[in-house]
Amino acid sequence: MKILVTGGAGYIGSHTCVEAIKAGHEVVVFDNLSNSSPESLNRVEKITGVRPRLIEADLLDRAAVKAAFDEQKYDAVIHFAGLKAVGESVAKPWMYYNNNLVSSLVLFDEMRAHGVFDLVFSSSATVYGDPDKVPLAEDAPLSALNPYGRTKLWIEDMLRDISAADPRWHIILLRYFNPVGAHESGLIGEDPGGIPNNLMPYITQVAVGKLKELTVFGNDYPTRDGTCIRDYIHVCDLAEGHISALNAIDKMPGCIPINLGTGDGFTVLELVHAFEKATGKPLPHKIGPRRPGDSPASYADASRAEKLLGWKTKRGVNEICRDAWNWQSKNPNGYK
Ligand code: NAD
Ligand code: WQD
Repeated sequence: MKILVTGGAGYIGSHTCVEAIKAGHEVVVFDNLSNSSPESLNRVEKITGVRPRLIEADLLDRAAVKAAFDEQKYDAVIHFAGLKAVGESVAKPWMYYNNNLVSSLVLFDEMRAHGVFDLVFSSSATVYGDPDKVPLAEDAPLSALNPYGRTKLWIEDMLRDISAADPRWHIILLRYFNPVGAHESGLIGEDPGGIPNNLMPYITQVAVGKLKELTVFGNDYPTRDGTCIRDYIHVCDLAEGHISALNAIDKMPGCIPINLGTGDGFTVLELVHAFEKATGKPLPHKIGPRRPGDSPASYADASRAEKLLGWKTKRGVNEICRDAWNWQSKNPNGYK
């Protein structure tokens, strides 16, 4: 298939480009590089032997989006592009609504105008808000706790309406749990700018000596060791999930949400200890106060992905920690 990958230079996008090329697809990346480096695509070429073409442009630029679709006929679009920092979305909601919502509307409208109706969208477990019960199945109640989460929920709503109005659409909403880890080559991985907000890049930056110690946000939650539980999924498993979605999309009309998670939850301290075990490095950490907005536990019921896509995760927490550390230690300053 010929696939347009928005946000393809980013963390999950670059890993998905590798898997797509390996599966024989042709990928074109559409990315404004606002949160990524073109070096990621050089590395994709090193891994696969194929350099994905980059259209360096903003999805808010309708003329550029139209030009991309005028130029060639795509079979499908994978839509990763967007801003994703929860705290920043609380401080600058207008930026998130503009960059994530308006740009998506432009994309979907140009897809329709050019007769491209197969779409895989990067949604998130954030659409489950603060869940009452776990594991989370796709029919769990939806809500948003912050502007970032609201953009995911509203794009999902937009896509449900769009597909209800026109039966030509085949849309898969992939709800990712916590993507972590890196390609086993150590050539591509997560490269957050500044101090990381998320747990795994914080851990690896402590391990490499860039940060002094990890603060564990709260140990008084109603969980087995008092720290929060999350479903950490290896980014290569996640990338493979997109290829499975592309393989299945032809027989999936409408708009279907599918969780991509392992189905297993790990506490913060369990992840810290797994990292220490996998890397042989002690990880300095201390207990701090809770972070506002964190839910005690979130992990997937991953059965729909297996049933509809024939996909399930292959990699466990050891591979996650090993590969995250391999990437960080080989690239202490990311792509710089
Ligand atoms: P990322 O920031 O590494 O990648 C996003 C890419 O989109 C970047 O390369 C950025 O330059 C590009 N981009 C942003 N706005 C754009 C615009 N207006 N026009 C063109 N390009 C634009 O993030 P990621 O971790 O790879 O996440 C990819 C997608 O998955 C996002 O939609 C994110 O919300 C979603 N998601 C991520 C996580 C996570 O924890 N990483 C979890 C759930 C969902
Ligand atoms: C994981 C756990 C923290 C940092 C976020 C977004 C979500 C989705 C995935 C995009 C929590 C604890 C963290 C630290 C810590 N993104 N923690 N010390 O919050 O589950 O999900 O990324 O859609 O929308 O909210 O991930 O990695 O930030 O936190 O103790 O320095 O690690 O409290 O329990 P989260 P995270």
